[in-house]
Amino acid sequence: MTDKPNFRYNDLRDWIEQVDQMGELKRVKNATWQEDIGMITEIVGHTRGSPAVLADEIPGHPAGQRVLVNSFYSQRRIALTLGLPTDADVWTALKLWRERIRDAKPMEPVPVEEGAVLENVLMGDDVDVTKFPTPVWHEQDGGRYLGTASADITRDPESGWVNLGTYRVMVHDKNRVGFYISPGKHGRIHREKYFAKGEPCPLAIAIGLNPLLFLSACTEVPQNVSEYAWAGGIRGEPMRVVEGRVTGLPIPADAEIVLEGYAYPNEKLIEGPFGEWTGYYASASREEPVMQVKAIYHRNNPIIVGSPPNRPPDEQSYYRAFMRSALVWEDIEKAGVPDVTGVWCHEAGGSRLFVAVSIKQRYFGHSRQAMHVAAMCHAGAYLGRYVVVVDDDIDVTDLEQVVWAMCTRSDPERSIDFIKRAWSGPLDSAIKPGEKGYNSRALIDATRPWEWREQFPAVSAPSPEVAKKARDKWGWLTNGT
Ligand SMILES: Cc1cc2nc3c(=O)[nH]c(=O)nc-3n(C[C@H](O)[C@H](O)[C@H](O)COP(=O)(O)O)c2cc1C
Repeated sequence: MTDKPNFRYNDLRDWIEQVDQMGELKRVKNATWQEDIGMITEIVGHTRGSPAVLADEIPGHPAGQRVLVNSFYSQRRIALTLGLPTDADVWTALKLWRERIRDAKPMEPVPVEEGAVLENVLMGDDVDVTKFPTPVWHEQDGGRYLGTASADITRDPESGWVNLGTYRVMVHDKNRVGFYISPGKHGRIHREKYFAKGEPCPLAIAIGLNPLLFLSACTEVPQNVSEYAWAGGIRGEPMRVVEGRVTGLPIPADAEIVLEGYAYPNEKLIEGPFGEWTGYYASASREEPVMQVKAIYHRNNPIIVGSPPNRPPDEQSYYRAFMRSALVWEDIEKAGVPDVTGVWCHEAGGSRLFVAVSIKQRYFGHSRQAMHVAAMCHAGAYLGRYVVVVDDDIDVTDLEQVVWAMCTRSDPERSIDFIKRAWSGPLDSAIKPGEKGYNSRALIDATRPWEWREQFPAVSAPSPEVAKKARDKWGWLTNGT
């Protein structure tokens, strides 16, 4: 096992080839965009370890226009994507990944003249977003969502900083798409800055990205660092970008499809409903800004990549648990909390709503400090609900162990703190329509109370030595050996 970054792909197509060689790709034909591709995603997206699926020969569309789903529902494919050893278990991979993100120096993208995305350039009357086999992902979706595993690229009009954020994209018609960005996200802040001046917001939407760039775009990478530079730093090689002909925005040179255009301050259309990561259609439908598409760039035989959320736990909550746990852990340590021994943003909470942190307690108030920082740090602040802090004998990835610690080491009156008026938004299923915006947080200190930890009852489970002896001698009773 090597601990050096090992990126075995340059773009999505290389990555698919690698996944195929790993035996983790299935191909299907004749799956409809109206229903089948969404149903396939629902089936594989709830089965951990299931293959990525590439749909071709989609009825009504030329063969070669493909849709890829379930890219990351195996630890091996996450490892491949992040340049980690594919034989590492999740803890080893998480440890290595944290070292990588800590050590990587952001590397700005390099502008190039040529890129596969320029194989087809459509402007003016040739612009037609409906030419692609965009699926309907969930039964009650209000439209076809071309952007799920995509990146919306915007530039801060004040500082020039370029952001890539995964914000869903719904097809309205040939040259208009709607895009939903939750309050407080970077793309929304950029857009609001243009709109406040009465100016159109330049925008590019990239679909079928280098998978590392996608995982960077949909994760809370550090503030004011462009995801291009972050991903380049991780890779140790800059991302290649071409200049958008309409807006001048940098677009990924090897993306499958890029839409480019402007959102105008006064143009809105109904967006949604869309099956969301909480497992509900919580934001329903409302008016949202629209992008007028002025140019489409795409590779020959383009591949749409989809990662629509389904009710968690699902593929999306799985890869986000890995990415977010590493970043929350980093944020807690950067805030000066010592001896954090584990962080896991649980899949059942969509990787946001239930976060478990373990610490080796060192002083009075240590557990309170850890849980408040975990709830409010950059990677953990948006739409959280519960944070639980446990001692280091608890495996934070094991929900049953975390719940056992909650049930046996916390006393609600002593152990729970509330934060009110925290950062939430339209997607919050537990807040009444019309009142969405803020939510509250319950932070549960499930550690042994510091001041009487020595008197806390001993755990009745056997010591590791006795447990091993019992397994060796009597294990055959349960495992048949
Ligand atoms: C598949 C997928 C779809 C997402 N869709 C949206 C979305 O529609 N709107 C949104 O605000 N965030 C969405 N997110 C979350 C953001 O991409 C994430 O918070 C990201 O960090 C935002 O980038 P930013 O931190 O630069 O604002 C999605 C994440 C994933 C993985």
